[in-house]
Amino acid sequence: MSKFKVTVVGAGNVGATAAQRIVEKQLADVVLIDIVDGLPQGKALDMMQSAATEGFDTHITGTNDYTDTADSDVVVITAGIARKPGMSRDDLLKTNANIVGSVTEQIVAHSPNAIIVVVSNPLDVMTQLAWKKSGLDSKRVIGMAGVLDSSRYACFIAEALNCSIKDVRAMVLGGHGDTMVPVPQYTTVNGISITELLPAETIEAINDRTRHGGAEIVKFLKTGSAYYAPSASAVAMVEAILLDSGRILPCCALLQGEYGVNNLYCGVPAVLGREGVRKVIEIPLNESELADLQNSVAAVKELSDQL
Ligand code: LAC
Repeated sequence: MSKFKVTVVGAGNVGATAAQRIVEKQLADVVLIDIVDGLPQGKALDMMQSAATEGFDTHITGTNDYTDTADSDVVVITAGIARKPGMSRDDLLKTNANIVGSVTEQIVAHSPNAIIVVVSNPLDVMTQLAWKKSGLDSKRVIGMAGVLDSSRYACFIAEALNCSIKDVRAMVLGGHGDTMVPVPQYTTVNGISITELLPAETIEAINDRTRHGGAEIVKFLKTGSAYYAPSASAVAMVEAILLDSGRILPCCALLQGEYGVNNLYCGVPAVLGREGVRKVIEIPLNESELADLQNSVAAVKELSDQL
């Protein structure tokens, strides 16, 4: 048994893979919950039967009953429908708002001290909604997107430079949509900005591929969206929170004046620890990066106003 308990809401591809990563890393015991009868139970039992071979002592259980989620330290919300080819994340707005709203109420009723990590799309607006429904302090409700977008950015940079991905630190800010803002000046290979290593046209092409990184996968899969990189990204945040590590990760956090934005969730660098967001970090941006960020904030705001 672990001293930590993590609930993962949604036993689809993102939720089940996140649950698997958490138990395999022995970060916490996991409760996998879904409305579909048998799905979380079956997947959890299957994962438990891999424990002897994988060698983990953490436990996972599957359930349809929120009382089993009681007193979770962290709750990852992946519930909702995923994109089909041709759909934007924004097309999921109304359906997923209903799902995320009701999930959040049930979670908080049983785990009033949890930190909530939202993964459902459209990400920034769903995170804002979960915060409002939860009644929790904003530092306890965080969205996962920047880690994923930065991870995709890093992947393409390592490929272009034929360098070790371990040396790449990538930074993508803004909303988790087509307006997201890759920031080359803060994207480095072992401390060297990529602006010193790659021609501007190559960087722009990589930025563009990053902005459409999710859609590229949806196009291949046809019946759903990405889940290996999204689940890995959510688990990186869960790990930083449980271990109180103080990692600086790009996260969707509530802005209260930072970057000139008020009362809106959007992707920014944040320090994560046991209390959730310890601090939002404001980094100086050049004129065009700032304009791109404002454009992305406006897109998030517009969608948020539609709710
Ligand atoms: C993506 C979805 C999960 O970016 O938002 O792949």
